[in-house]
Amino acid sequence: MERIVWTCCLLLLLGFAAGFRTIRSVNSTSDDRILSYIKQHIDESADPCEDFQNYATGKFLEVHQKEDCNSTQDSIRKKYNGKLQSVFNLLKDRVFIDEFSVEEKVWRYYNTCLTAPKSTRSARHYLELLPPGYNLPWPPLVPQGSQWPKQEFRWLETLAILRRFGEENPLIILDIQQNFWESHKFSLRFNMPQLLKLDNVTEIQDLLIRTGVNSRRAAPLARSIIQLDSDAHNLSKIGERLAVTYILEDVQNRTNLQLDKYLEMVFGRSFEPSTEVLVDNMEYLEGINGVVSKYDSEVVASYLMIQFLRFVFYLDDSDSESDTAKCAAVVSSQMELASDLLYENYYLGEGKLQKYTKEVQRIFEAVSQTFMARLEKNRLHLTDGEVSYLQQKLLAMRLKVGKLPDNANHRRFATKFYEDLELHPFGDFAEARLNVLRHRTSQYLDQLDWAVPKGTDFYLLTGYMPENDPKPVFFELHNTILLPYDMLQEPFFSPETSDVFKMSQLGFSLARSMMESFWPFGLRYDSLGNLGDNLLSFKEKQGYIDGLACLNFTTRSKDLLKRSADVVSLGLVYDTFFGDNSKFNQDQPAFTELPLKKLFLLSFAQMFAGNQEYKDFEEMDSDKLRLSEALSNLPAFGEIFNCPDSAPLNRPKKCEIW
Ligand SMILES: *[C@@H]1O[C@H](CO)[C@@H](O)[C@H](O)[C@H]1NC(C)=O
Ligand SMILES: *[C@@H]1O[C@H](CO)[C@@H](O)[C@H](O)[C@H]1NC(C)=O
Ligand SMILES: *[C@@H]1O[C@H](CO)[C@@H](O)[C@H](O)[C@H]1NC(C)=O
Ligand SMILES: *[C@@H]1O[C@H](CO)[C@@H](O)[C@H](O)[C@H]1NC(C)=O
Ligand SMILES: *[C@@H]1O[C@H](CO)[C@@H](O)[C@H](O)[C@H]1NC(C)=O
Ligand SMILES: *[C@@H]1O[C@H](CO)[C@@H](O)[C@H](O)[C@H]1NC(C)=O
Repeated sequence: MERIVWTCCLLLLLGFAAGFRTIRSVNSTSDDRILSYIKQHIDESADPCEDFQNYATGKFLEVHQKEDCNSTQDSIRKKYNGKLQSVFNLLKDRVFIDEFSVEEKVWRYYNTCLTAPKSTRSARHYLELLPPGYNLPWPPLVPQGSQWPKQEFRWLETLAILRRFGEENPLIILDIQQNFWESHKFSLRFNMPQLLKLDNVTEIQDLLIRTGVNSRRAAPLARSIIQLDSDAHNLSKIGERLAVTYILEDVQNRTNLQLDKYLEMVFGRSFEPSTEVLVDNMEYLEGINGVVSKYDSEVVASYLMIQFLRFVFYLDDSDSESDTAKCAAVVSSQMELASDLLYENYYLGEGKLQKYTKEVQRIFEAVSQTFMARLEKNRLHLTDGEVSYLQQKLLAMRLKVGKLPDNANHRRFATKFYEDLELHPFGDFAEARLNVLRHRTSQYLDQLDWAVPKGTDFYLLTGYMPENDPKPVFFELHNTILLPYDMLQEPFFSPETSDVFKMSQLGFSLARSMMESFWPFGLRYDSLGNLGDNLLSFKEKQGYIDGLACLNFTTRSKDLLKRSADVVSLGLVYDTFFGDNSKFNQDQPAFTELPLKKLFLLSFAQMFAGNQEYKDFEEMDSDKLRLSEALSNLPAFGEIFNCPDSAPLNRPKKCEIW
């Protein structure tokens, strides 16, 4: 059996007893491995007081150049997909008695991805499999010499068909949304699309040609498609962006859209005219029919076709044939609950999951207690009622590890979840892809009929396709932080490592997620995750205003909230570890001579390694800036690195929020 080992992460793999293959190394303890991970990135020629990112991680890109890892997060993601890939490859050798097992389904999708011929991944093949209406082909698929029957085309029906496969975005978004005010219920929600504007004629023209549109026709058609997209975008700019509750009949009357028919097609059942729906931008919905009617049906159909193809190809490129790494990534994203189950079985068995979870909870508790003490200190002079509201929110916050529900048998849950998913063992990739998308989307949308799984019933199934970004995520409507399994790996986390590593990386990440509950908008959600008019006045508290202005002083940012969360979070974990009430052992560890406080900050900096500039999101701070801002507001920083008073990162004035 061929097995690809990511050399980038080889160091990290070493000694991690994978359950079925163990590699021995001199770097045999977790502390040694993480220490050497940190040390090899240090660039001694840089000045820590001027540019900490360069000092702590300046050699990162050089060290990992060959392996295409641009950040610690990249390396964690790759390592995780590499481990799943090993599991998927092992599935080949098993003789399945039970064709209904999760393993068999995962194997079938993975194997189809690996072996299906290229012709089954083509744009035209997707279009053949998923026509835009009953007995209606997409325009480029009409046989030569005959006309496309445009009178049969209903754009809202086509939208409904695409929605069933998870394509939620073009022209109108339909989603199910946890009700903000009563977070145990789901509601229907209509919104304007959030896609980036189409602007590249060449890209669209190329896609059109791939579907069979002749090259003379492709350029003008591409321009019309972009025109329609631009019109829809312009319309989306006019309205209010606030979720308002309406009844379905009212929305239909105002928008001239047959939304009842649309919903019936999406959900396979009818909806009462009195059904409550949330609408984010009524002006948009009122105008969209008018915009679409200005265009020829063939342009509208081609627009939806292009958006559909961009959606399926965005999930991965179509040429992943026999690329085991890409196929593993496809399966782990689109069958995420199955992948969690398999990962858990192979890597977190024999009590490991319980052990890891306990460790993670201990770190979370420690950080949470420090923040609780800050709330009691009440720097911002909040009222007693406000403080007790915040404390309740904090006390009720849950940390959940993994995507499957805590209170269910994971195998039984996943087996039931994938019960209706039918896949062939090989053959047709587009067909398998569409089956997986259809199944996943129907599981997601069917939640509308049920109470929201909360507390220990909570499991993760997002409407959009997950990107498998290795980081904890805060769900305000659940008051829950979810830590995905990929984070339970070195250098981010290992139960055996010293607390100095755990606190500086995992501790910080958890604090950072926690803080999303404590910035102005997050404050409005109570301890149960229901939205209310709680603490609306927070933004006007003088201490908060001054804190933000302070953070905005040296380097301006449009992203001050995130900056404040970074600064508060680093301060919190640092205090938790080194503060007066610390429960952590601060003796110099035996494995290194690096002073503990330096080690803490060097380890912390690994999460900001690389060259990420966020060019697409210009309002975001770069990783370098995030790291500088967090450190230059940490009171102890200058002393730890012996920085002169004039050093850029040794600012005389430290900003405080909480
Ligand atoms: C540990 O691993 C690092 C990175 O691969 C290597 O440079 C170092 O020499 C190893 N240490 C020992 C003691 O083998
Ligand atoms: C790393 O950065 C390079 C250059 O910016 C880019 O081409 C490459 O795709 C990036 N790799 C990953 C895994 O993001
Ligand atoms: C437009 O798309 C083409 C083909 O996909 C690509 O080569 C080109 O770089 C894109 N241009 C811009 C400005 O993004
Ligand atoms: C949309 O708005 C932009 C800027 O206001 C304008 O240039 C463009 O022509 C508009 N597009 C359409 C299709 O009206
Ligand atoms: C919607 O329009 C129909 C037909 O004009 C009318 O009977 C009905 O009362 C309207 N419903 C609402 C909620 O405005
Ligand atoms: C931050 O500074 C910029 C530039 O002076 C300013 O426009 C912005 O309003 C400031 N933000 C806050 C929250 O003070």
